[in-house]
Amino acid sequence: MLGLAGLGLAGCGTRARGQQPGMVAPAGDGLGELARARGITFGSAVQAELLGRDPLYAAAVTTEAQLLVPEWEAKWEALQPREGEFDFGPLGGVASFAQAQRKQLRGHALVWHKAMPDWLPPALAEGPARARAVLAAHIDAVLGATQPVIRDWDVVNEVLANPPGSRFTEQTPARGVFRDSPWLRALGPEYIELALRLARQRDPTLRLTINDYGLEGDTPWAEQKRQAMLALVRALLAARCPVDAVGLQAHLQLDEPFRPEPLAGFIQSLRSLGIAVLITELDVREGARLPPGLEARDAAVAAYVQQVVGTALAAGCRTVLTWGLSDRDSWLVQDPDVARRDGQQHRGHPLDAEFRRKAMWQALALSFAGA
Ligand code: XIL
Repeated sequence: MLGLAGLGLAGCGTRARGQQPGMVAPAGDGLGELARARGITFGSAVQAELLGRDPLYAAAVTTEAQLLVPEWEAKWEALQPREGEFDFGPLGGVASFAQAQRKQLRGHALVWHKAMPDWLPPALAEGPARARAVLAAHIDAVLGATQPVIRDWDVVNEVLANPPGSRFTEQTPARGVFRDSPWLRALGPEYIELALRLARQRDPTLRLTINDYGLEGDTPWAEQKRQAMLALVRALLAARCPVDAVGLQAHLQLDEPFRPEPLAGFIQSLRSLGIAVLITELDVREGARLPPGLEARDAAVAAYVQQVVGTALAAGCRTVLTWGLSDRDSWLVQDPDVARRDGQQHRGHPLDAEFRRKAMWQALALSFAGA
């Protein structure tokens, strides 16, 4: 059996090196402490590999984050690279760091249309019975192993399609309100319900979260996506399907209009259904035209973040995670799909590439103070 010991020791060789003597942590309370003083949990996505080899990175995580989510290590391709062969090594790296530093851990993601190992899409295409069996086996093994350390999982990630007119439409063909994916093709929308039910069965007290993006802005398509999410949650509840929380990824874009009311109304609607709302992957892409100078750029990012996070907290959101802490290690810099193409780099994280606190850090601190 795997369990906690399995997770912590599964041959990963990654111990909590963030605790090594001689490491310098930034002065003053981190965002995690500031948030906690207001009953809020702040955390970040982390990478096991960097926790293991980069003391500056590990120190920033130790100082700023109370809650960690593996950026890659709990995705299907990491956990079950070959059918029936589970590898908890990389996730164990994050788990042992979390344990040594007394941080909480959340899971991301049991079902997603990306980060699938090569064998998975063809297996799903073999038919519904096979798809159900594959899903059940993954959830069984993964939740069995992570149960002692992960009490909140993104059970399904990005299941909603992007409504027509959204800037993402061309990348994600739709089937009604649901995203076309190997899971949808194999099982229809029932795969969502099936995953949630299997997760509840395997780990009855686990918080089950539905995570998605493009739900924050003041645009017609964001509103359509919010309505689709509300309809999905209502349908699940009507079918007595377990679901506890909705994660707003909040990969924000500065050239997208924002107004507090639509987001606040959406969060309140979910909460009135008994659903908790988390910000799970906050980061910011700057606009096509950058203001002159880093100070002005950082101020624009900070002002936007304070509006969105302030709105979410006022509406009852109690958990905020950024998708990484520093601009240096972000997918916004490294992933060609989201990186800038003008030779500049997005400055969409609380710390800059040298791990110095930026205006966005202050914006988060102020949002927590005002909550
Ligand atoms: C991203 C990672 O940050 C990248 O390193 C990887 O190449 C692709 O995935 N929504 C999610 C996350 O739910 O899992 C994604 O993470 C970012 C978008």
